[in-house]
Parts: sequence; structure tokens; C-alpha cells
Amino acid sequence: MNETGLQNLREHDYYELLAHLDEPEWPLRSVAPAIYQTSTFWSPDPDEFLEMATKPRHAAFYSRYGNPTIRSFENAVAGLEGADAALATASGMAAIVAAILTFAGQKKRVLAQSAIYGGTMGFLRNVAPRFGIDVDFFEQTDFANFAQALKPDTSLILLESPSNPLLRLTDISRIAAHAKANCEGVILVDSTISSPINQQPLSLGADLVMHSATKSLGGHSDITGGVLAGSSALITSVWQTSYLLGATLDPFAAWLALRGLRTLPMRVARHNQTAMEVAARLERSAKIRAVHYPGLPSHPQHDLAKRQMPNGSGGLLSFEVDGGLAAAETVMANLRIAHRSASFGSFSTLAVHPAAMWAGMMSEEQLKQSELPPGLIRLGVGFETPDAIASDIEAALERI
Ligand SMILES: Cc1ncc(COP(=O)(O)O)c(C=O)c1O
Repeated sequence: MNETGLQNLREHDYYELLAHLDEPEWPLRSVAPAIYQTSTFWSPDPDEFLEMATKPRHAAFYSRYGNPTIRSFENAVAGLEGADAALATASGMAAIVAAILTFAGQKKRVLAQSAIYGGTMGFLRNVAPRFGIDVDFFEQTDFANFAQALKPDTSLILLESPSNPLLRLTDISRIAAHAKANCEGVILVDSTISSPINQQPLSLGADLVMHSATKSLGGHSDITGGVLAGSSALITSVWQTSYLLGATLDPFAAWLALRGLRTLPMRVARHNQTAMEVAARLERSAKIRAVHYPGLPSHPQHDLAKRQMPNGSGGLLSFEVDGGLAAAETVMANLRIAHRSASFGSFSTLAVHPAAMWAGMMSEEQLKQSELPPGLIRLGVGFETPDAIASDIEAALERI
């Protein structure tokens, strides 16, 4: 149960929450929130100043520790996720790294699914071992493989559902129930691709949910940010690490993220519908070998998608072009509506060729292990019509 008293929010509640969450706070009764664009706060009173400096997560002491604009964004996300508290960070990666450095370390193992965002994988494989952090991996669609990989000293379980860029799902409630019975580990779900509108990991048994706010929470391709939500105790633990890492979100970015959040339900509903229509149409193309989208009845985990993401499957899909790397590059070069760009969840359609893009983040061997099909193209739909987006791709496919 969160500060708003809401647990599983219905559509009506989302609008109420986003419209009115922080109303009483704004000075001069401004309808839109104020931006506290300040690095620090002062007090004439030494006792008050001491309290500001020492109370964990004080929202008005020094902006690396916290800030009222950032807190407003955090409260809104906590409300949307049915959490007690949330912590905003400078990027999605900052949230992931702060959580790893909080809950893992020597003699504490991380267990992560093997199909996971390239940056997360890069940290786990290239940086974590330097700090004595042991990392195990499991195949997210194989429960037996998870159960086998879980160890009594697993202290952090990293899940991502749907996964980027193959849109594979992780059965969050099944994994969470088994983990709770067998270890003390914190279960963290990267829910960036589904957004809080489509999926509520905390209600499925996860301890922490994380988003790259750079994507649909911000929604306008104009900020870099991240956020974690969960119990006050866990969020305070991560804060103890993150404020020392300096992984704090900027107040102006928090203000933009809060503005983005207000229209999240409408934007996500549009993305859900558009991605579904585009995916269904691409599935009929003779030049496409496979379309990955959990909303399609052909997706191997479609039943899980209906259970776990009851409101829709999100705005991200991927498809494999016949002809591998070269054919995918030809399609990318001939897209006119979709821009070649490394993000999604925005107003305009963005496409990437992951095998080419992630080559910068991973070694050749790691790339091979990640099982990225060379002809895979990832598409984050925008607000263009489904027909315009699909026609653009079909025209590009003709150039192969
Ligand atoms: C699923 C997922 N998690 C985390 C991240 C990292 O977020 P950021 O780029 O905001 O650090 C991304 C970025 O693309 C992502 O797609």
C-alpha cells in the first residue's frame, strides 16, 4: 500500500493520481509544479541544519541528497507502482548500478537473466568482477534453469521483462515465489519496456521495480533518467549508495519527467495499439523471418503476456529480416519515418539494428553469447499511424 492508499490502480485512478498527486505542495498555488533548480538549501538554525544534513533522504538539504522537485517525481512513480517509496537517478543505468552495488559484493552473488539490456550485461560482465561481485546467469524462459542457478547466497536477482531487444518474458510471480522460499535475495525487475501502465512487478512479488525514465516515463526524448520503486527500507538502502555515487537526477530533468508522467496512460495506450497493429502486419511479410511481440498470439509466451501485462504489450517490437546483417542494414538505410536512434518510448518511431549497435558495448564473444540474430531490427513505435509505420518498413524491405 502506498501513500495514496491505492494498490492495484485502475485507469481512473491513474488519471486521478497523475492529475492531483502533488497539488498541495506548490507555492503560490501554481497549477503546474515549481522547479527547485537549486544545488543547495540553507538554514539559519544549527539544529535544523544538522537535522537536514543527517536525516536520510532529506528532500531539501543538498540536491545530490534529494530535492523537492525530484521527490515529486519519485512520489508519482511510487504511486503508479503501488510502492511505499521511489528513488530517482541520473539514468536507468545509474539505478541498476546503484542497486547492484547496494545488494551485491564479496560473498554475495548476483543472479541475472542472460537476455538483458546490453548496458546491464556490460556492467555485470566487465565491471562487477573487478569489485569481487560474482554473477550467475540463467535463461529467463526456463524455470528449471533458474531454480538450478539460484544459490543460498544469491543476494540480488536481476530480471527484465519484456527483455530488450528480443521481447522475451520472465514469469515474475513464479520466479519471485521460488526465490522467496529459497534465499534472502532482493528481486529487482527492470520494467522499462512495459511501463507501470502495462505491468506491476511489485504486485507480482518483486521487491524493487526499475525504469529507465529516458524511455516512456519521460516520453519525449528530452531527458536521461532512471527510477527505482519499492519499500521505504530498500529504497533508503539504495539511496545510501546512490547519493555517494553522485547518481542523482537533475531537478529540471525530474520536472520534465513529472510532466511526461502526466500523459503516460494515454501515450502507452497509443503505443500498445500501434505496436500490436504494426507487429501483426509485419508478420505477414514474406521478407521477415520472425516478429517478436508479446501481444501476438504467435509469441511463445503469449498466455503469460496476457496475465502479466493485462493492459497491453508496450510500444517495442523486433523483427528478423531474411538475409542477415547486410539485409538489416539495407532496411535501416531505407527507412523514412523511423529514425535510426538508440531509444524508444517516445513521440516518434525509432529503430536500431542491435547486432551493429551493441558491438560497441560487448566483445565479439559476448555478442555471440547474447544470441542476437544478425538480421534483427528493434522498433520503438511513436505516434505516427500504424499504417504509416508499417508501410515505411514494407517499402524498405522491398530494397533488399
Ligand atoms: C530495458 C532497459 N533497461 C535499462 C536501460 C538503461 O537506461 P538509460 O539509458 O536511461 O541508462 C535501457 C536503455 O536503453 C533499457 O532499454
